[in-house]
Amino acid sequence: MNLLDPSLYESVRKPLEQAHGLPPACYHDPAFHQKEHEDIFTKGWILAGRTDRIANPGDYCTVGFGDLSLVLTRSEDGALQAFANTCRHRGAPLVEGEGHCRALSCPYHAWTYKLDGTLAAAPGMQDTANFHMAEFPLHRVRIDVWDGFMFVCASAQTPPLAQWLGDLPERLAMYGFDQMRTARRVEYQVACNWKVWVENFMEGYHIPTVHRSTISRQKVVNMPEDPGRGEYVAIYERHEGTRALLHGDAGFGPIETLSGESSLGSRFILIYPNAMLAIANDTMWCFEAFPQGATQTKIVLSSCFPASRFERDDFAALAANYFKRQDIVVREDNDISEWQQRGLQNRHARPGRFSIKEKIVHALDNWVLDRVLGVTSQDGDALTQPAPTHPQAPVASGVHRRPA
Ligand code: FES
Ligand SMILES: [Fe+2]
Repeated sequence: MNLLDPSLYESVRKPLEQAHGLPPACYHDPAFHQKEHEDIFTKGWILAGRTDRIANPGDYCTVGFGDLSLVLTRSEDGALQAFANTCRHRGAPLVEGEGHCRALSCPYHAWTYKLDGTLAAAPGMQDTANFHMAEFPLHRVRIDVWDGFMFVCASAQTPPLAQWLGDLPERLAMYGFDQMRTARRVEYQVACNWKVWVENFMEGYHIPTVHRSTISRQKVVNMPEDPGRGEYVAIYERHEGTRALLHGDAGFGPIETLSGESSLGSRFILIYPNAMLAIANDTMWCFEAFPQGATQTKIVLSSCFPASRFERDDFAALAANYFKRQDIVVREDNDISEWQQRGLQNRHARPGRFSIKEKIVHALDNWVLDRVLGVTSQDGDALTQPAPTHPQAPVASGVHRRPA
């Protein structure tokens, strides 16, 4: 099966009510995954966590997926930088994890780079002909920030982050994300394709079964959501109280700046391709998804609260209630994602049909196809053009076209 043949996806391109899902091989085929890496993850704006990961000059952290391994630094002037995590001498990674340093010194032969990426020392190189340190800075990658969220982008052609996000910052301004701090950052290794995890995050169809003894008890009404303008999709659910605690547990109460719908429910946002926000009326959780090959995904969850909450004497006790809910429910999602992945790799697996509750699954699948199937070669760089958020229109037989 040639997974890059557009005719394979005619049914995925149909309106939700008529569509089939992606062929199961799209969730485990290494070549399809490599195409996603090239066309999606190396070109898109990728969430790399919150800025408080590297709050002070000298702080650094790393993010990695496929052949993109980056080190993010905060330099002396407070600016954020992102570099390829590979030494300009013989290529060794400079650092792993996160930490604090005055300069990035390679553990192999001690070439040392300032926090702005310039090479400051290269011991033993004085007899090398025509060697000029200025010619060997770290390779710089784009980094930009929206309200405390750090995004990186490895492509120079991709439009700025502000264009990528479209009207999303304006729609979410009342939550005051720039005034939030991260209380906990947790990593999970999940044995599934990245789309499996993201699709699960963006549909509520599984809640009565997968979360039957936890969050399914809360009565929730799905409300129509304006598709908006930007590389994102959104869900809004109306319900009483918060979605971020288990029944009966105490929390911080609603964020004071909220009003209207934002105070009466929760929002789930997917900023293509790897950023997921779960926004309740009292907390915001952001999830980063980093593919580690076709069938493994690293999920990173940052739990954020308004900065004022951290000053309360009961902060630790109340925050623990939110973490308890996360630890149980995220585990349920991770387990079902690994379970689904095993079935997708069954040789008899075939594309299924969607419930209307899986609107975003369908939207994501079409967004992926838009990028992987060669829009780039036919229409120029797909990522320089506004993308649809809710595919609805059928596509002519055998012809790849973006849904309207
Ligand atoms: S590889 Fe980094 S100093 Fe040699
Ligand atoms: Fe779930």
